Amino acid sequence: MKILITGICGFVGYSVAKQLRALSGDLKIVGIDNLIRPGSELNRANLKALDVDFYHGDIRNASDFDVLPAVDWVIDAAANPSVLAGVDGKTSGRQLMEHNLAGTIEILEYCRKHSAGFLLLSTSRVYGVEPLANIPVEPSGARFELNQAANPMVGLTKAGISEAFSTEPPLSLYGTSKRAAELLALEYGSAFDLPVWINRCGVLAGPGQFGKADQGIFSFWIHSHRARRPLKYIGFGGNGYQVRDFFSPDDLAHLIFQQIQNPDKQVPKILNLGGGRELSMSLAELTEWCDDRFGKHEVTHTEEIRPFDIPWVIMDSNKVLEYWGWHPSWSKEELLESIAQHAEANPNWLEVVT
Ligand SMILES: NC(=O)c1ccc[n+]([C@@H]2O[C@H](COP(=O)([O-])OP(=O)(O)OC[C@H]3O[C@@H](n4cnc5c(N)ncnc54)[C@H](O)[C@@H]3O)[C@@H](O)[C@H]2O)c1
Repeated sequence: MKILITGICGFVGYSVAKQLRALSGDLKIVGIDNLIRPGSELNRANLKALDVDFYHGDIRNASDFDVLPAVDWVIDAAANPSVLAGVDGKTSGRQLMEHNLAGTIEILEYCRKHSAGFLLLSTSRVYGVEPLANIPVEPSGARFELNQAANPMVGLTKAGISEAFSTEPPLSLYGTSKRAAELLALEYGSAFDLPVWINRCGVLAGPGQFGKADQGIFSFWIHSHRARRPLKYIGFGGNGYQVRDFFSPDDLAHLIFQQIQNPDKQVPKILNLGGGRELSMSLAELTEWCDDRFGKHEVTHTEEIRPFDIPWVIMDSNKVLEYWGWHPSWSKEELLESIAQHAEANPNWLEVVT
């Protein structure tokens, strides 16, 4: 089987390629990346060892697909993945939509031409920002927990946010670019009889992630803490109680490996994936973990309001467990420790990747 991974030099694209190679020596892997993400050059250098056929190209350009070989599957990991993209003053909405949406259309046309399957790495950000912001939470220890006594919300279960949660806009420009990509993928799949899988991922984390405050938060926090860089809790009373679940792209790759081998499996095409409550943490808890690991480091706080900030996201991954037997294999401690070791081995990481 031959696959194309777009954004192969990014954190997820590269990690997935590495894990897929570990799972199968026979898989032919082709990759494309325009190297726009600072730090992505570092992964390019390692692709040869994974026996990846790399093309330096841009998914926005139809002609960049002309030189690519035919494949059986495309795993789409090329995007601007920041929820602040388009409103951060550094990127425009048009740029975001060109990378994330127009780029997806070019990939889907390539899939149509070669009758290839399409696997989209989507996001928890396809859920409405207002309902997400209104998830009933209450402080408990150093984190927010779901307030079980509050009125039920559609799609919110004890395990977290399920696929039934509202996707009504506003979502953020980023979230809308991914939701629109989901709809286009399903439409192309139906119109041209192409297999499609859509994995809505919560936060992915691991060593080698290009962490920034608005994207790759676990990597950013751990690297910053180790380097004694300034850190601050933003909003929500300034306590750092906001919670996210997280999981390893290695675990994502295990699911992808199954999905590309079972294109006709009769299960829902859109599934949520995340670390669940077991692999979840507040920023305050993450600071405590870092204090134990690297020694105490003071975190300040600000009441600054950042668009699209939400207090609590944990993905309900019960469906992907039911249909694919998938659950994260990396524990919280293993994942945090792997990032810490990477931070120690790469003391200048934040300078390189920001
Ligand atoms: N990291 C997460 O927590 C997370 C969570 C949910 C979903 N996702 C999705 O996973 C995918 C990968 O995210 P990531 O964290 O690896 O981001 P990343 O920025 O590390 O990787 C994206 C890669 O795509 C490349 N790229 C961007 N625009 C391109 C274009 N027009 N043509 C070719 N290459 C292009 C970049 O150079 C980079 O190497 C994204 O689609 C993102 O929406 C990520």
